[in-house]
Amino acid sequence: MPTLIQGGRLVLSDGPVVGDLYIDQGKIAALGGDLSHLEADRVIDARGKLIFPGFIDAHTHFEMNAGLPNETADNFATGTRAALAGGTTVIVDFATQDRGDTLARALDTWHSRADGRCACHYAFHMAITEWNESVRREMADMTAAGVTSYKVYLAYDALRLGDRAVYEILEEAKAQGALVSAHCENGDLVSAGVARQKALGHLTPAAHPVSRPAGVEGEAVERFLTLGEEAGAPVYVVHLSTARGLEAARRARQRGQEVYLETCPQYLLLNEDKYQLPGFESAKYVCSPPLRSQGDSAALWQALAAGEIDVMSTDHCSFDFDGPKQLGREDFSAIPNGMPGVETRPVLLYTYGVAAGRLTLTQFVHLLAEEPAKLFGMYPRKGVLAVGSDADIVIWDPAWTGTISAATQLQNVDYSPFEGFPVAGRADTVLLLGETAVEGGRVVDSGLGRYVSRGPSLGTRRL
Ligand code: URP
Ligand code: ZN
Ligand code: ZN
Repeated sequence: MPTLIQGGRLVLSDGPVVGDLYIDQGKIAALGGDLSHLEADRVIDARGKLIFPGFIDAHTHFEMNAGLPNETADNFATGTRAALAGGTTVIVDFATQDRGDTLARALDTWHSRADGRCACHYAFHMAITEWNESVRREMADMTAAGVTSYKVYLAYDALRLGDRAVYEILEEAKAQGALVSAHCENGDLVSAGVARQKALGHLTPAAHPVSRPAGVEGEAVERFLTLGEEAGAPVYVVHLSTARGLEAARRARQRGQEVYLETCPQYLLLNEDKYQLPGFESAKYVCSPPLRSQGDSAALWQALAAGEIDVMSTDHCSFDFDGPKQLGREDFSAIPNGMPGVETRPVLLYTYGVAAGRLTLTQFVHLLAEEPAKLFGMYPRKGVLAVGSDADIVIWDPAWTGTISAATQLQNVDYSPFEGFPVAGRADTVLLLGETAVEGGRVVDSGLGRYVSRGPSLGTRRL
């Protein structure tokens, strides 16, 4: 059924223009100017609204650790529904290899958790936790299955890889046109830091950031970039949290390296003072890397404004406070790491970035849609308002105001790290392949999400 969206401010790749957008058979069929001569079954009056390509969250963890006591609060059904309500139309989650097992089995497991349950579109990165020749051969199968990005962990003993493995994965991924991302913390230093805090009898959440200071990230970013340089491969740093890591990336770029950076709202809007809250409240903010200083956040905001950061994701990894987070009451290192955010990323970046005058609408759309689409092999199908692109569209009401609260969120978790934050704007209407999924800010259809098989990574910083 052809749909005409009339009179909105279309946020195109090179800036906003007022005009119409016409959708036919799930695709954008025409855009710009007055399209009222085109026949439509449905006309949406979007005067006063902003029209964005659907937002992409390239970093979520839904239904992680299934079966263990520290299971995530959000599964694919609840997580993608919350994402959709905020205007996110594609999430990319992390299928994770079990050590001793294959990538194929990990991909099957994640498909079995997500298929038929997602309210927004979804795709998978592949996290490699054990490296050998048979895993190398499997990477070609992953490419064929539409998985064109990998993650390696430099921390977490159950997941991390050594430098040689990371180097060889980078080489193979390059040959496959795939992108490798890394969780950059020095795992040995984290282990030493945790042991030291425990030996000192520091067992509350206040010890968490002390056990993994900025240098732990700085060293790992530097090392990952060096491995990328030696492999001649592009690199993507997930959840960058420090000025130190940023400076390492700047140096590598000056050397001519292709480096991509991702950060998340929590590293911009929350700081390490959250670890000084009374009682056990600080456990809500235990994530890795930890929240940092105000100086780090200021450096990240500056880098965003200067176009040095490519992608804004969430690292949504939700654990109930009155649930798995309590596992660490007597020992901070047993607190499951992570916090929720998939629902609130667009409105937080709009409020504290665009409305606050720190970012332009074009930068907003690049960070939330266009760059992740390019880097993760979905462009121009996703991530842009262009003729021929999928009609995953957000009609944004910039005049709406509200307050973030766990009481009203769709995220299936018992707290919000952004509780009480005033926000401006909201996703009023969201279309998935031209079908209405959100109307008046409410999810009206949660059965429209489809798997996104992805192509090669399109490196926008390639020289
Ligand atoms: O604390 C976090 N970030 N948990 C999720 C896993 C990861 O490190 O990305
Ligand atoms: Zn991580
Ligand atoms: Zn993560």
